[in-house]
Amino acid sequence: MDLDELRALTPSAAIDHIVSEHHEPLRRQLAELERACTALTSGGALTGAALSVVDLARLVGEELGQHMLKEERLAFRMIATTGGFREVPLAVMEREHRYIDELVRELGRKTDGFTPSPGAPHALARLFAVCRQIALALPAQFAQEEALYDRFRSASEWVA
Ligand SMILES: [Fe+2]
Ligand SMILES: [Fe+2]
Repeated sequence: MDLDELRALTPSAAIDHIVSEHHEPLRRQLAELERACTALTSGGALTGAALSVVDLARLVGEELGQHMLKEERLAFRMIATTGGFREVPLAVMEREHRYIDELVRELGRKTDGFTPSPGAPHALARLFAVCRQIALALPAQFAQEEALYDRFRSASEWVA
């Protein structure tokens, strides 16, 4: 769905779309990310650069999980149930988009664009693959959410 199509939806329909098409697949990807991290760290053999990649991937996962919860419990609920301006929570959500985007870029830099080296453990290849999926999908999610937030900001009263 492009941004014009998203803007043509009611706020509730736009939120349903974001949750079902972005948040739900992302939650499955975050579960896979965590399984891969656990497989890599459970043996305690990781050191140095590989360990710092796993730590950063986990941080991305935790930040994304918390961010989605805040959107669903605060920002989306507020948009779906009230009119008027609620500037601060939306600014916080957008700031978190920039922060998470930076973390994902850093993860891409540390992993040579999510490319496992030859002979890397299977779990590391799985981790890089799911991180790449997340990195590719996030810009569309963030853009759709920011279009929704912009629309909400510009409406003095908005009934879902
Ligand atoms: Fe989101
Ligand atoms: Fe978001």
